[in-house]
Amino acid sequence: EQIEKGGYDHFMLKEIYEQPNVIKDTYRGRLHASTGLIQMAGVEDNLEKFLNADRILIIACGTSWHAGLVAEYIIEEFARIPVEVEYASEFRYRNPIITPKDVVIAISQSGETADTLAAIKLAKEKGAFVFGVCNVVGSSISRETNGGAYTHAGPEIGVASTKAFTTQITVLTMIALRLAKAKGTLSNSDYFRYLQELELIPEKVAEALHSNTISKEIAEIYKDASNCLYLGRGYNFPVALEGALKLKEISYIHAEGYPAAEMKHGPIALIDEKMPVVVIAPKQGHYDKIVSNIQEIKSRSGKIIAIVTKGDVQVKELADHVIEIPETSDALSPLITTIPLQLLSYHIAVLRGCNVDQPRNLAKSVTVE
Ligand code: G6P
Repeated sequence: EQIEKGGYDHFMLKEIYEQPNVIKDTYRGRLHASTGLIQMAGVEDNLEKFLNADRILIIACGTSWHAGLVAEYIIEEFARIPVEVEYASEFRYRNPIITPKDVVIAISQSGETADTLAAIKLAKEKGAFVFGVCNVVGSSISRETNGGAYTHAGPEIGVASTKAFTTQITVLTMIALRLAKAKGTLSNSDYFRYLQELELIPEKVAEALHSNTISKEIAEIYKDASNCLYLGRGYNFPVALEGALKLKEISYIHAEGYPAAEMKHGPIALIDEKMPVVVIAPKQGHYDKIVSNIQEIKSRSGKIIAIVTKGDVQVKELADHVIEIPETSDALSPLITTIPLQLLSYHIAVLRGCNVDQPRNLAKSVTVE
């Protein structure tokens, strides 16, 4: 097992560090930034289905559901197709309205999640075209779907998903860009810019991994917290949910993710000097709004851990701790902002003596209800 961990203390850390490579593996041969081509056989073969869809419905569980939420923002923005995201477990039991004009995207790392599989069967019965985004080749979901695209993350051993999440977002972003190209919903210059930005993501993820040291230092300070709040806006709202999920899964600290502006409708009541609040505040996006959210936390004595773009000045003055990440476009930022959150959870869990790779009560894939 030590050999399989490749010199890392845990599979989770190894998998976090694999992300620059596996994101590249995922887009290799599919993304051609210089010529402006995106070639994914599963998408090309079914392009008409996607282009004629009244809406796209994404179904998934857990971390894959969070990747679906990121994709909702990206697909709607790039390709202007309405997207809904559902928990597979809810979808399958509520007599959902679904027609042959719907395209369903099922996202699953393992390809074996029972609820997702059952939801796919239901969608197919109702005549929808179902497209799978799976990591495990030949898995039940990859066989049950009408078409699909694999993520090339390699085996993910740590129960808490890391590299599967970022490679899922990579695949879904390429799908969004391919549809945008076919529909003409992005200007040529924006389209090329996103392709080039996506190509640069692996090296930016590698740079974001330099936040390991500071994440560990921050983890030392907050390892005994009993609650933690994660806030983000826009593309980074789902990243806040995912950051909170990672922390609770492996450290057993209660954590909640929230859209930053919703804080005032509830979570703000929880903020006091004992409450660490992780705020995802990159320069792109709704920066001024996030700054005012940070001021609201500060005036209630909350402890602010901010994820900021390298060179940031404003948030640095307000936050207790900042973690710098390289700049990218707003839509692609989840691929970068999620990195320090993975590291922060990892270090907190290790410092608390938790079994990081196999947290209590959790399974890598939930094949029964
Ligand atoms: C379990 C795992 C999670 C995963 C979820 C969905 O809860 O512990 O890490 O996100 O299942 O799994 P899937 O394989 O369908 O992505």
